[in-house]
Amino acid sequence: MRGLITIFSFLLIGVLTAFYIGFGLQESREPRAIDMELEGLNEKYLLRFSHVVAENTPKGIAASMFAQLVREKTDGWVEVQVFPNAILYEAQDEFDALMSNDIHIIAPALSEVTVLDPRWLVMDLPYVFQDEQMVETAFNGKIGELLFESIEEYGLHGIAYWDNSFKQFTNNVRPVVVPEDIEGLTVRVMPSDALIDTYRALGAWTRLFPFNEVYDVLSTGIIDGTENTLSNIYSKGFYRQQKYMTLSNHNYLGYAVFMNRDYWDSIPVDYQNSIIEAMDEVTLWLRDHSKVINEEMLNRIKNSGQVEIHYQTEAERSLWKQSFKPIYEKYGRIIGEELMKEVIKLQEATP
Ligand code: LMR
Repeated sequence: MRGLITIFSFLLIGVLTAFYIGFGLQESREPRAIDMELEGLNEKYLLRFSHVVAENTPKGIAASMFAQLVREKTDGWVEVQVFPNAILYEAQDEFDALMSNDIHIIAPALSEVTVLDPRWLVMDLPYVFQDEQMVETAFNGKIGELLFESIEEYGLHGIAYWDNSFKQFTNNVRPVVVPEDIEGLTVRVMPSDALIDTYRALGAWTRLFPFNEVYDVLSTGIIDGTENTLSNIYSKGFYRQQKYMTLSNHNYLGYAVFMNRDYWDSIPVDYQNSIIEAMDEVTLWLRDHSKVINEEMLNRIKNSGQVEIHYQTEAERSLWKQSFKPIYEKYGRIIGEELMKEVIKLQEATP
């Protein structure tokens, strides 16, 4: 009997061991169904998007629209939290914050990017773009491509170019019609050497203040004037502190939307695709609507009766362009041949 029990015990252990080993082998033979592209898809991503303007401006509206589209396209697995009005950071501080993953998306004005890389000064040459069509060709063509390439070495990943509009000149001292009218004025500009030299060429002084300090420095008379788009001039109330505005369209204010390259690469491909889709939709929407929004803001400024408005004529425009020739000579060298060649090509192709 004892012998039978011993044999039975051995058999039982044998069967159990075979079952265990067999199961184990079977598991290692069959590949586990892991699709690397789906890795992380059950993890929620929270992207903090910081910008400096008001919510009722082209960039403000675009950022909120983008957040909503991303939520819809990812069923809420990617959430974009928008922080407008420099609640978190002023434009220049956004770059470091992006690199340290404090925030995840920024859309600084192109002039702000020139501090990081001088090639971006190409977008700040006075009167470089004649109209919106030319700007779009630059954004979507070789110029846009070269600029995004240039920024990769700083760990940034360019996702889109966003529109605002052309900049206008405002001041409190006198109507500005001919270049000499600007002489002696103190003007706030963004931190771009080309903008500083543009005013210097006209005998004006420049001061660099973050966007959200401009209203205060205008109202206290620290500066006489400033340049910005109609949507920024209206939404931040600059027009209430200025007597004169020249519709000069002398520079384009556009934005580059950036993410931190490493952070971007860590997002699962499916979510990246949804983010790109949302971004493309918003970028197209802006292309169609930013000019209209700015025109609407012009009406509001006009209706306020606060500002005397001068519409620059073609003849005046040519006069201003003459004054800026030295800027092109100096910055052509800094920006580099490759980009300048593209600018010339673009200008020659524009009737
Ligand atoms: C500025 O003047 O600093 C702005 O144009 C900022 C912006 O992002 O539009």
